[in-house]
Amino acid sequence: MSFVEVAKTREIPAGRMMHFEVNGKEVLLANVAGEFYATSDRCPHANARLSMGKLDGTTLICPLHFARFDISTGELLAGPAEMQMGDMSKLPPEFVQTMSRMGEIIAKIEAYDLRVYPVKIRGEKILVNVL
Ligand code: FES
Repeated sequence: MSFVEVAKTREIPAGRMMHFEVNGKEVLLANVAGEFYATSDRCPHANARLSMGKLDGTTLICPLHFARFDISTGELLAGPAEMQMGDMSKLPPEFVQTMSRMGEIIAKIEAYDLRVYPVKIRGEKILVNVL
């Protein structure tokens, strides 16, 4: 597989991310201060679409359980956060029982490094090799 054009540099402003599908793979393309990075757009924890998350410099934060990745290397920086639920007094007890343990249950799902793809810039074209 070789590099394919996915976007123009002007389409992704600094600090932004976009979702693409390239050869059947979901790809996240991000612009971090003029450097472009491409990764899988599925979180290696529980499959959330990462381009719906947040970018803080080269730190990518998953929108679902807030795992953090270095978008330049794919390294997992911090696993999913354990979350607390709010007032659940009006919900069925079985549901409350499960939901009250949801943070603990989610935190036990292993998260792994994120797959990254090589990026080339040719003029205004952004090319990605999804391997
Ligand atoms: S799906 Fe991304 S941290 Fe859980």
